[in-house]
Amino acid sequence: MVLGILGSGSGSNMQAILDAIDAGNLDARIALVLSDNPDAFILERARRRGIPCGVIDCRGFLTRFPDEAQLETAARLRAAGVTLVCLAGFLRLVKRPLLDAFPKRIINIHPSLLPAFPGLESWKQALAAGAPTAGCTVHLVDEGMDTGPIILQEEVPILPGDSADSLHARIQTVEHRLYPTAISKMAASLLAPARASLP
Ligand code: GRF
Repeated sequence: MVLGILGSGSGSNMQAILDAIDAGNLDARIALVLSDNPDAFILERARRRGIPCGVIDCRGFLTRFPDEAQLETAARLRAAGVTLVCLAGFLRLVKRPLLDAFPKRIINIHPSLLPAFPGLESWKQALAAGAPTAGCTVHLVDEGMDTGPIILQEEVPILPGDSADSLHARIQTVEHRLYPTAISKMAASLLAPARASLP
């Protein structure tokens, strides 16, 4: 798999994907890292590893992902040979222009047991709702917010005395294992039809 990563923040999930590749647990390569935030640490992580990276120009919009920016992003990902796009803490909603360029090949990691608690800071939502358990989910991206078909998910316990920070840290530890595993699963399912059509 040739991966393109989109992120807006720290990039710890991208780091986990890199670590899984380095350890020989994930047969993939990260070809391009793009961020809508020029100061995001995910870009620094990419630079340190010599991975091509760059900034997405969202035309001054704070939260929207304008169509022009999505088309530019699709062109950059294609030019890099990307076969699977991984959202890793990317804070803008991906819509038709980019979804159409990579049909069923854009995935996201979300810090809740979807369909519970879509949207921002899901671990805080889970705590506020008194949910019995938290979790994380890797899913295909569709036009909704955190609504696409689920690839993998795992429960994370909420412990007595948990703060938002302690719960988020526990969820992220699981995310770092779950995301590379989900990418392997996607690779197997994407390659299976090709193998099946061989003579
Ligand atoms: C993760 O918790 C992920 O579930 C959410 O955004 C966070 C990104 O963290 N979508 P990082 O940038 O990978 O450290």
